Amino acid sequence: MGKIFVDACLGKETPYTPVWMMRQAGRYLPEYMAVRAKAGNFLNLCHDPKKACEVTLQPVDLIGVDAAILFSDILVIPDEMGMNLSFVKGEGPKFSDPIKDQEDLDRLIGGDKAASKLTYVYDTIKLVKEKLADDKALIGFTGAPWTLATYMIEGQGTKTYNICKKMMYSNPELLHNILAKVTEVVKFYMEKQIQSGIDVVQIFDSWAAAIELEKYNEFSWKYMVEIAEYLKERYPHIPIIMFPKGVAPFIASGRVYGNFDVFGVDWGTSMKMAKEKIGDRYVLQGNMEPCRLYSKEATTICVETIQEIMQGKRHIFNLGHGILPDVPVENAKHFISECQRVSKK
Ligand code: CP3
Repeated sequence: MGKIFVDACLGKETPYTPVWMMRQAGRYLPEYMAVRAKAGNFLNLCHDPKKACEVTLQPVDLIGVDAAILFSDILVIPDEMGMNLSFVKGEGPKFSDPIKDQEDLDRLIGGDKAASKLTYVYDTIKLVKEKLADDKALIGFTGAPWTLATYMIEGQGTKTYNICKKMMYSNPELLHNILAKVTEVVKFYMEKQIQSGIDVVQIFDSWAAAIELEKYNEFSWKYMVEIAEYLKERYPHIPIIMFPKGVAPFIASGRVYGNFDVFGVDWGTSMKMAKEKIGDRYVLQGNMEPCRLYSKEATTICVETIQEIMQGKRHIFNLGHGILPDVPVENAKHFISECQRVSKK
């Protein structure tokens, strides 16, 4: 149940500041690569609850984080809506038939029906909860509707988001219809993750920075808030972490609102600014630049600085984004032990 982690997310007093890492089950662990090789490919691994459980637990056992993040991917949602996901080696995720019009959208499975197809995720959660030590939390997650929609519309990762943006400015109604349909699936999906046993919800809006400030609420934040409100109404004891990447202007503008607990601050955003703007209303998570993990000294300096800034405020240590595959495991452990050292003082 991970009481310390959950309490910290809910803004309660804790004996130390907990820490966890995103993409912790990622490619930097040789143990992960071994299980993935056995599974054949990444999606097989997501579909296999026993193996997904094993890689979920690896970083907890090997690195000593306070919370495990469920092993899965945000893109299993559109896959189960009927979009045929594949991971092409060296190129990342691909959907063969991106959404071009309302007919394409209407063909996709929605709501509880789509969420009910993700049984392998719920089975993984149940297995993990059987095995996870009682003092560790399990974080379940989803992509924000906007971040999911970028893949569903572009068919793959993009640098320019030109197809989505063309839709945003020339056919906003269709984009809203896509976002609303994904939002409905995500509400049921996260509710089922909670019912399966996750302790914390995290919503990743990794491509938030693609949207201009004036449009961010309309096309992304408001849908994330809708999901959070739906869950908070029904499961108030489950903390919700919102993690939009690259939204310093949004934080600075004073427009952050919604019923959630923790705001994930990315590494490009000033923790001091975030503290001043929203640190009284939300627990802040973050925000070490993940590449600092290449150097132990650089890691220590950053951990100490974050601790100093956040002293007396509610906080959770985390990398400002995912961990890179060639980071030495020893350095990842150093990050965790430094967070523990400075926050126990
Ligand atoms: O610690 C964990 O590994 C938790 C599980 C997790 C994964 N993806 C596993 C994964 C989580 C929380 C995600 C979220 C995710 N997936 C996001 C949002 C967070 C973020 O990092 O911004 C996004 C945008 C995706 C979509 C996605 N999945 C991308 C862009 C990629 C990389 C493709 C590539 O070739 O580099 C993936 C694949 C992926 N998801 C991997 C892992 C461990 C790497 C797959 C592998 O090679 O084993």
